[in-house]
Amino acid sequence: MKHYKESQLVSVELTLNGVDRQAYSETRTLLSDFLRHELGVTGTHVGCEHGVCGACTVQVDGVAVRSCLLLAVQAQGCKVDTVEGMGDSAEGCLSDLQAAFQRHHALQCGYCTAGILMSCDHYLRQVPHPNERQVKEMLSGHLCRCTGYRNIVDAVLEVVATRQNGKRMEDKNV
Ligand code: FES
Ligand code: FES
Repeated sequence: MKHYKESQLVSVELTLNGVDRQAYSETRTLLSDFLRHELGVTGTHVGCEHGVCGACTVQVDGVAVRSCLLLAVQAQGCKVDTVEGMGDSAEGCLSDLQAAFQRHHALQCGYCTAGILMSCDHYLRQVPHPNERQVKEMLSGHLCRCTGYRNIVDAVLEVVATRQNGKRMEDKNV
């Protein structure tokens, strides 16, 4: 493991949403702050800053993590994905999860949404056909003060069903 001196400024290189990026970070800087303040991706929100609310969730090497519990230097050389990388922002296209959230009004102020989307995206890769109880369990790692969660659960279950139907059609056409 690499050892750094306290308050040392270090160069952090990572792949952010598919693009190689580099910036300097103090050794104590959190990944959430590094993303927002040094790399300018502000879709990742910071709520509690101690791992409880889930607002800061991003994916590091494909795994959903709380970016307020990681130091920026720990992401050195990693693949980091944030909500900005979902869908195709250049084309203005939303991912299926984002579109379902929009359809179901699964957000109000939106503060929690980026983190929830990143967790859902990771979770559905691991568990492609969850039932309602499993979706609720997964969402229990996130605090939303606005929606009451019902619409979020509906949005996720719709994506599960749509992907399942799409897969069935693909299999039939093979
Ligand atoms: S800001 Fe990271 S979990 Fe709340
Ligand atoms: S939409 Fe406001 S906190 Fe979740």
